[in-house]
Amino acid sequence: MVENITIREATENDIQKVIEVNLIALPEHYTQDFWLDHLRAWGKAFLVAEVDNKVVGYVMCRVESGIGFLRRGLIKLGHVVSIAVLPEYRRKGIGRRIMEESIKRLKEYYNVSEIYLEVRVSNVPAINLYEKLGFRKVKTIKYYYLDGEDAFVMAKTL
Ligand SMILES: CC(C)(COP(=O)(O)OP(=O)(O)OC[C@H]1O[C@@H](n2cnc3c(N)ncnc32)[C@H](O)[C@@H]1OP(=O)(O)O)[C@@H](O)C(=O)NCCC(=O)NCCS
Repeated sequence: MVENITIREATENDIQKVIEVNLIALPEHYTQDFWLDHLRAWGKAFLVAEVDNKVVGYVMCRVESGIGFLRRGLIKLGHVVSIAVLPEYRRKGIGRRIMEESIKRLKEYYNVSEIYLEVRVSNVPAINLYEKLGFRKVKTIKYYYLDGEDAFVMAKTL
């Protein structure tokens, strides 16, 4: 475990660092406006992890109204859009901590009753993390990613 890790809300000043972590960690990239729009709309659930004042991870979420995967009827859903930790800081509990904090905040600030996300079917580290947090696979979306890989949709009720 890293001792001196801080989990906090992201600010607009962090967005460039978040983009850099995303570019290193994931093939799914977004425009600066996309990151900023999420920060401005759902900033209580857009978190960064810092070690020695350096951003080493983030989680970005949005809130949607829709039909639940696990709950019936029209509900508020938290959608984890992107999460990543820099390679050299992985397997130290950071991903778990930022996910746990964002889940807590999605409920506390946005009153969501279910959370879902998409994950590559080959992404064993992420799938393991989500299963540890109580998510389960609810659906497969064929060819979801640009390179043709399928996605699992994983969801969890709150
Ligand atoms: C997925 C990711 C965010 C996990 O972050 P992390 O800080 O390494 O995760 P944690 O240390 O909190 O791990 C929590 C649990 O997840 C699982 N896990 C994490 N990395 C794993 C790996 N390489 N292999 C298998 N399981 C793994 C384990 O169950 C782990 O618990 P344990 O260490 O007690 O066994 C990180 O691997 C990452 O940034 N990957 C690239 C980006 C990505 O794939 N994002 C998800 C897109 S859907």
